[in-house]
Amino acid sequence: MAFDPINPPQRLLMGPGPINADPRVLRAMSAQLVGQYDPAMTEYMNETMELYRGVFRTRNRATLLVDGTSRAGIEAALVSLIEPGDRVLVPIFGRFGHLLREIAERCGAEVHVIETEWGTVFTPEQIAAAIAETRPKLLAIVHGDTSTTLAQPLAEIGALCEKNGVILYTDATASLGGNDFETDRWGIDVATAGLQKCLGGPSGSAPITLSERAVELVNSRKSIEAGIRADGDAVSASPIRSNYFDLSQILDYWGPKRLNHHTEATTALYGARECARLLVNEGLPEAIDRHRLHGTAMATGLKALGLELFGDQKYKMNNVVGVLIPDGIDGDGARSAMLNDYGIEIGTSFGPLHGKVWRIGTMGYNARRDTVLTTLAALEQVLRRGGFGVTAGSGAGAALDYYHSA
Ligand SMILES: Cc1ncc(COP(=O)(O)O)c(C=O)c1O
Repeated sequence: MAFDPINPPQRLLMGPGPINADPRVLRAMSAQLVGQYDPAMTEYMNETMELYRGVFRTRNRATLLVDGTSRAGIEAALVSLIEPGDRVLVPIFGRFGHLLREIAERCGAEVHVIETEWGTVFTPEQIAAAIAETRPKLLAIVHGDTSTTLAQPLAEIGALCEKNGVILYTDATASLGGNDFETDRWGIDVATAGLQKCLGGPSGSAPITLSERAVELVNSRKSIEAGIRADGDAVSASPIRSNYFDLSQILDYWGPKRLNHHTEATTALYGARECARLLVNEGLPEAIDRHRLHGTAMATGLKALGLELFGDQKYKMNNVVGVLIPDGIDGDGARSAMLNDYGIEIGTSFGPLHGKVWRIGTMGYNARRDTVLTTLAALEQVLRRGGFGVTAGSGAGAALDYYHSA
């Protein structure tokens, strides 16, 4: 059977991620392969480490990529940090908190959770009380939970963890590059991300950074795999329960030893390097400002269409907004109309928000004025045809006014 070449339809991806990749990232990914230990390749690896130190705002030597989507980074972090029986505290404020809990459980942790209603975040006092009660070894928390569009402030939580000798892990997949994120200043031990949100690339590579004390912990469980192990090499009594995600071995591959582990996903690395290069060249503060500008323009336009925003707006991520689906409008039908008539994708929601909230993103390559105005203009027509009363031009007009005043 003969198939046609891949020729995807033109789409404007304005959901919570993935988004359209920056063409420069796609171009970098079309470059030819080199060997795993070619000096050009190891140089690209070193440059990628340096670039991601800039993105994560850290001096951590251990800043690298895990091959796989964002959850590969999460699994690598948690399986490498958690020994079976360890106490782990997971504050949950959305879907991805549940994911952290599930992965920690699968790592054999004794998991304690606290939960807050979707659309809210935790106060430092709530976290402090949970730490005092559970005395965890590790606190695992999402920074920006895409499911609710909110970001949990982490600076005070970092200080709390430091004071109590707790390792702090955070999932910054949705927030990194578009919102303030300060690995070192906030005292974060391990952070992971993905490319498909504010970094403007395709999913498939998971940047990660680890503090010195996290590296020490991970390396204390090092077991170099049989077949490449030399006399005297480490064999741990409590090895990391995954080979692929064993950060102690992955660090040796990315470090001066260049000890063989997996075959680095070269094309994904080219893409990840370009994502970081673009952000660092733009400047992290400038990139965050860009996300804030376009995110606020989108929110302003949605409100002017007569829509209500979801969640405590004080904690909204810059790059995505939740909006309540108005009474009488079929949420999935409207999304289909956006896609079929305008080629624009906006997001549905999970769990308790499904059918109630759309999520609309302005991130990475799509954090631009033209994408915001086009999406608002199209949504106005879809709402109007669905019977929701809107004033002609109100959404795009309000966003444009905001741009002119900002
Ligand atoms: C906050 C957060 N964490 C984790 C993930 C999982 O990422 P992936 O689908 O790339 O594995 C996502 C995906 O949207 C996310 O938004």
